[in-house]
Amino acid sequence: MSSNILITGAGGYIGGSIAAHLLAKTNGLIQKDQVIAAVRSKEQADAVSKLGIRVLQLDLSNEKDVTESVLHHNISIVIHTASVDPSIVLPLVNALGKQKQVNGGETHFIYTSGLSAFYEKTGWPVGSFKDTDPVFDTEKRIADSFLLRKTDVAVIEHAEAQGVTSFIVVPSLVYGKGSGEWNKLSVVLPLYVKASISAKAVYKFPENPRVSGVHISDLTALYGLIVEHILRGETVPSGREGYYFALAHDMFLGEVGDHLARALCDRGLISDSKTHNYSDPEAAAESLGVPAPFVQMLWDSGPDIIAELPHSIGWKPEWNKERFLQDVDDEVQAVVDLGKAKSSLVDSLLKSAMG
Ligand SMILES: NC(=O)c1ccc[n+]([C@@H]2O[C@H](COP(=O)([O-])OP(=O)(O)OC[C@H]3O[C@@H](n4cnc5c(N)ncnc54)[C@H](OP(=O)(O)O)[C@@H]3O)[C@@H](O)[C@H]2O)c1
Repeated sequence: MSSNILITGAGGYIGGSIAAHLLAKTNGLIQKDQVIAAVRSKEQADAVSKLGIRVLQLDLSNEKDVTESVLHHNISIVIHTASVDPSIVLPLVNALGKQKQVNGGETHFIYTSGLSAFYEKTGWPVGSFKDTDPVFDTEKRIADSFLLRKTDVAVIEHAEAQGVTSFIVVPSLVYGKGSGEWNKLSVVLPLYVKASISAKAVYKFPENPRVSGVHISDLTALYGLIVEHILRGETVPSGREGYYFALAHDMFLGEVGDHLARALCDRGLISDSKTHNYSDPEAAAESLGVPAPFVQMLWDSGPDIIAELPHSIGWKPEWNKERFLQDVDDEVQAVVDLGKAKSSLVDSLLKSAMG
């Protein structure tokens, strides 16, 4: 049976870091020639090729090319990190269904969702919950009210119908410099660092929201564990029971702001280590250069989710709140080294903020 692995969005922050992790840290279980990276542009392809793996320049909106690539490269596992748009995501599931029909053997789809599907602000109705609760049933009941929920449900149902095993990975706020070859920057913290440098001061959200976070190396380790279990033929929760919330630790945004102010001050990038408060979400949105609804998500405390599944398959995050706060200068260093994220996700956020 084929065990070739296709990583979509491999020029991106998460996808690129997953590719690097799979090659470096899976105890020889994965060979270089099994890993295939899908990227969007020629520049990304040239950069990712440095990993010494096969790289496909593939427009994921072209269903015919997607299906041909999955069949031609005998892919049995897709790790998808490129988009949450069902018109991009579902053809990949269809292609895995076809691959199963044509070549036999099991096929697996590991999909990347987002925590905002579970925020009260976006209409999540049940407050705190456990990942072993019927998360799928709740998402399905209100699927049409938020794109991320709609896509989660569509992925699971579509995969079931095609006989493809699905996993939904839900990253929280991801931080740390990525280990991929193209975009190495995440979204939220780099924007916060940049905004603080240009305002010459650190502004905080007065409600001091609590959010969940995960270092990129711990997140990629979670994807790696799912893949390892698949390759060993071990059954782990999947489909309707397969929600893997990557929540390594909580943090209060106020304490992040305090540590960031000291780090920026120590570098002489701002002159005052005292923090200030944003007056309202609109002021925060303007300062961060992102749309107000995006800030609204940061303004509120995140959901209380008890995530047992990742730990049940052996996930042991190495980063906790203390380590993150102590090393918050890493976030500044990454922005100083790299400037702006090389990602159309960030560009589209910035564009919609300009009106
Ligand atoms: N970073 C976080 O903190 C975080 C947290 C939770 C969830 N997520 C989700 O995780 C996913 C990956 O995030 P990320 O931070 O890694 O973003 P990213 O750096 O922008 O990576 C996404 C990659 O997918 C590529 N892509 C998008 N649409 C494509 C298409 N139609 N065809 C081919 N390639 C396409 C992008 O190429 P271009 O750059 O050329 O567009 C980019 O290289 C996103 O869905 C994001 O919403 C991220």
